[in-house]
Amino acid sequence: MKVGLSSSRVLLLLTLWAAGSNAQLSVCGAAPLNTRSDTRIVGGQEAAAGAWPWQARLHIQGGLCGGSLINSQWVLSAAHCFKSTSTSGVTVDLGLQSLTSSANVVSRSAAQIIVHPDYNSNTNDNDVALVQLSSAVTFTNYVRPVCLAADGSVFPSGLDCWVTGWGTLSYGGSISQTLQEVDVPIVSNSQCSASYSTLTNNMLCAGLTNGGKDSCQGDSGGPLVTKNGTVWVQAGVVSYGNGCAQPGYPGVYARISNYQTWINSQVSGEQPGYISFQGAAAAAARPLAASLLAVPTLSLALLLS
Ligand SMILES: *[C@@H]1O[C@H](CO)[C@@H](O)[C@H](O)[C@H]1NC(C)=O
Repeated sequence: MKVGLSSSRVLLLLTLWAAGSNAQLSVCGAAPLNTRSDTRIVGGQEAAAGAWPWQARLHIQGGLCGGSLINSQWVLSAAHCFKSTSTSGVTVDLGLQSLTSSANVVSRSAAQIIVHPDYNSNTNDNDVALVQLSSAVTFTNYVRPVCLAADGSVFPSGLDCWVTGWGTLSYGGSISQTLQEVDVPIVSNSQCSASYSTLTNNMLCAGLTNGGKDSCQGDSGGPLVTKNGTVWVQAGVVSYGNGCAQPGYPGVYARISNYQTWINSQVSGEQPGYISFQGAAAAAARPLAASLLAVPTLSLALLLS
């Protein structure tokens, strides 16, 4: 009987553990208040409250960056946002839509900052960092984690993605008071490397390459996401670009799918949810010409703190 009892406990523990890991996947990537239809509007605009519930706003010793919530206690951001891994003066706001309202906002200080050990500040290679929040947050319709692109995910040229942030509305301009969103198509690495000679496979490009008013979206560290069914998957972290709105220079993002192993080795508690995104070439959403006719007027500077 004793043996029987302890076996049940082992089974029960295993069941709970499995339920825990599945729960994270079923929770991530949902944005119940994002009512956007599949016919998307091209161009920068104000985001509705709760449209991007994983969006984080990081205050870093007077600097400003974006980030994304990946489980209840960790935020993904960019390495270049952090001059050091000191948590002093680092706070994270979640659930924020407008700087004029604190409704739905949850704030935390940082308990730990982990910059990728192979981050190269000359080339921006491996421009990813993790911030552990001082305590876990409770998920609401305004504060929820995004799913991350799993190892081996494919984001084909032309695929529609969205980038969000509080960056400036023009290069060198002032900070936006409201979270901004814009959709940008993926640009292949072979095409993008013509613009950036130091482009690596750890990077992903998105933007309107030929547009005179292209966007370079979001605060540094913020998320580039795409949607599969009802689930939003983060493909990139806003990393760098040649100014903003420059023809021929798409925005460059850290390619999240290259960091699943590293993120899992650093994040304590439940693991983030991962989705293997396998976009085929057919996923190219709309003709480039259409994008060029309706270019975003919004363009956000990368804010190097
Ligand atoms: C989207 O999700 C479905 C169902 O999980 C999957 O079969 C499909 O391959 C996914 N699409 C992409 C582009 O990953």
